[in-house]
Parts: sequence; C-alpha cells; structure tokens
Amino acid sequence: MKSDRIAIYPGSFDPLTNGHVDIIQRGSRLFDRIVVAILLNIEKSPLFTVQERVDIAREVFREYPNVEVDTFDGLLVEYARRKHASAIVRGLRAISDFEYEMQMALMNRHLNPDVETVFMMPAETYTYVSSRLVKEVVALGGSVTNLVPSLVESRLREKRLGRETLRA
Ligand SMILES: Nc1ncnc2c1ncn2[C@@H]1O[C@H](COP(=O)(O)OP(=O)(O)O)[C@@H](O)[C@H]1O
Ligand SMILES: [Mg+2]
Repeated sequence: MKSDRIAIYPGSFDPLTNGHVDIIQRGSRLFDRIVVAILLNIEKSPLFTVQERVDIAREVFREYPNVEVDTFDGLLVEYARRKHASAIVRGLRAISDFEYEMQMALMNRHLNPDVETVFMMPAETYTYVSSRLVKEVVALGGSVTNLVPSLVESRLREKRLGRETLRA
C-alpha cells in the first residue's frame, strides 16, 4: 500500500548477529514493513557471500511477514526512494557508534530530506556484540552461542575459521 510506513535497515550483516536481530524485531513492530538491505560492498572482503547473507536473514525472519531481505548498491537514499521508504533504521550500541552514525544520518538528510534516520538501542546484552568480534571469537575457538542465531553459529562453524583467517 502507498500509505505503508516502510523502513530500510542497511548494513553488511557479515554475519547477522542477535544485535541485528533485536533491531529488526523492534523495527518490525514500529513500521508496516522493514527491509533488511544488505550492502553489495566491493571494498570490504566479507566472510559470507551476499547470497549466503541473504539466505541466512531470510531463514531467520521466515515467520515475519513484514520483514523483507534485499540487497542494494549505490546511494542508500536513492535505494530508499525506489523502495518508497520513509525511514532508515540504524542501531546504536555505544557512544562510539554515534559520531559516524550522526555524520551518515545528516549526509543522507542532505541528499534526501524526505527520508528520516531512526536510531534504536538493542537490549543491553547485545551492546557489545559486533560481526567483527563474533568472527574473531569463533576464529580463536570461543563460543558465540546466544550472540548470534543458531543458524549463523553453524554456518560459522562450517567456515572452519582459524587464527590465520584473521586479518590484521
Ligand atoms: N549488536 C548490535 N546492536 C545494535 N545494533 C547493531 C549491533 N551490531 C550492529 N548494529 C548496527 O546495525 C547496523 C548495521 O551494522 P553492520 O552490519 O556492521 O553494517 P555497517 O557496515 O553498515 O556498519 C549499524 O547501524 C550498526 O550500528
Ligand atoms: Mg559495522
């Protein structure tokens, strides 16, 4: 419907963590539809392919009729326009996220004043979770149970990460 409130939740999701899941669930309650938009970023060298990340997110949110999983490239605000989205959702874990996020939000507003950035805080238990740290812990043999969906945990195990896979 044209009057639906649609939000975009953009990111790398390499891999999806319970922090991301928490934000998506909050977003799905706040908006009519939330689009998890996985960035096709050629600069970062990801652990999971875009297709793997799409499949994981689709599986985890299989029972959420208003959560869509998609990929995007180029300017986020242009993608938002194409999707008829009125909001961009981002997660804030700590002050350390703030400076970069504020800069992005204001640049996006400059580029398209019709799209509002909405920040949400995850449950406290996820404030220290990041995709990067999750990969590091797994590579060093630690457990990430309860920090990522169980599907992600098994996919991470299949990657057989070792110390040598950690980049400086
Ligand atoms: N544990 C978490 N709790 C809440 N928000 C998070 C968490 N981890 C990441 N985020 C947020 O999710 C969004 C996407 O993160 P990420 O996948 O790292 O992509 P990006 O490359 O855009 O940082 C960002 O707004 C980030 O701050
Ligand atoms: Mg990040």
